[in-house]
Amino acid sequence: MDVTQSAQYPLNPFPHYEQMRAAAPVFQDDQSGSWHVFRYDDVQRVLSEHATFSSRMGGENPSGTGQLFAASLITTDPPRHRQLRSLVTQAFTPKSVDALAPRIAALTGELLDAMTTGGGSADLIRELAYPLPVIVISELMGIPAEDRERFKHWSAVVVSQTRTAPASERQDSTTSEMVEYFLALIDQRRSRPGNDLISSLLAAEIEGHKLTVPELLGFCSLLLVAGNETTTNLIGNAVLCLAESPGTHARLLDEPALLPQTLEEVLRFRSPVQSMYRVAAAETVLGGQRIPSGAPIVAWIGSANRDEQQFERAAEFDVDRNPNRHLAFGHGIHFCLGAPLARLEARIALESLLTRFPGLSVTPDAQLERMESSIVYGLKSLPVNWLP
Ligand code: HEM
Repeated sequence: MDVTQSAQYPLNPFPHYEQMRAAAPVFQDDQSGSWHVFRYDDVQRVLSEHATFSSRMGGENPSGTGQLFAASLITTDPPRHRQLRSLVTQAFTPKSVDALAPRIAALTGELLDAMTTGGGSADLIRELAYPLPVIVISELMGIPAEDRERFKHWSAVVVSQTRTAPASERQDSTTSEMVEYFLALIDQRRSRPGNDLISSLLAAEIEGHKLTVPELLGFCSLLLVAGNETTTNLIGNAVLCLAESPGTHARLLDEPALLPQTLEEVLRFRSPVQSMYRVAAAETVLGGQRIPSGAPIVAWIGSANRDEQQFERAAEFDVDRNPNRHLAFGHGIHFCLGAPLARLEARIALESLLTRFPGLSVTPDAQLERMESSIVYGLKSLPVNWLP
């Protein structure tokens, strides 16, 4: 398999992480001033000790895409975080999400039908991994079917931003387009509520107060970004891992019940979210380094999940790994709200692929390139074929 390595976003960043864990596990980048954290224990602390490591984003006056997320769950600390989160937990409990299984299975079936019309080969990202999560989240939010493509495009532009870099012109115009679109949608739902997430957020109150418009926008943008690119990449990364591990592929055909633990290992081994950000709320010591108050911190989840102090044979893909305490969905109060949904979508997608195309393989000589993002990890495209 030909893996094209981009210097900036390599498909194999893992040797670099390994070096950093050994030589400079908590490291300040002089250029940006950010502190980079590579070991499992330290990453877990940064993600979960919210009083010391704040999720606040972009300072007092965020600009560009920062505006969109400034009032969202993922960039809010307690006590507001708990209040906001309580409004949406109900929609994402394993029970509520399980009710979506028949719809997700039907959508997957339709996408795979369309994929086979092209013959015995296709780009799995374009045909399945990319559209499935967008359709699911847009249906949950009540986004009209004809707007899905725009929706997906915005999410791709927003995640390609690295938080330390200033927003590009393209990102700024995407932000304005998204804000305009969501404001119109919010207005529409205010006058004609439906059976969707936006309508229930509009009806919700915290201590007698409705959500503010920036908070509503924050929810919409977060669900758009958090729910799409990440799940696309879990599906794509799973197919890549199986292509590299034919033994696991063969076992899954005999024992489909291994699929959930296989996906947990994919989440560890090729984490769709490689890094998360925090800001030091107070001076603190981490990994022997003194980090000043206000310093930006990057917690490298992708490295924590390969930490040999936490995982035996960390560099091996092993679906029998037990326990598998990966941090792919984060840790603590910000633990991924969409984890049950992501797991369900990926399980149904992989189950359907294995059933319909037991001989599915990645096309030999395919040039595999990583998406241009330091935060999310996945392939730009994944050419597969299923002819014997
Ligand atoms: C939070 C990863 C899918 C919604 C997070 C966090 C991670 C993550 C690492 C923690 C952020 C932090 O600590 O600052 C993933 C991965 C996914 C996935 C790897 C797919 C494989 C989804 C989906 C949704 C979603 C499908 C929704 C439909 C959220 C939300 C938060 C979050 C709303 C913020 C929670 C909070 O701040 O309390 N996700 N996510 N995610 N995720 Fe996901």
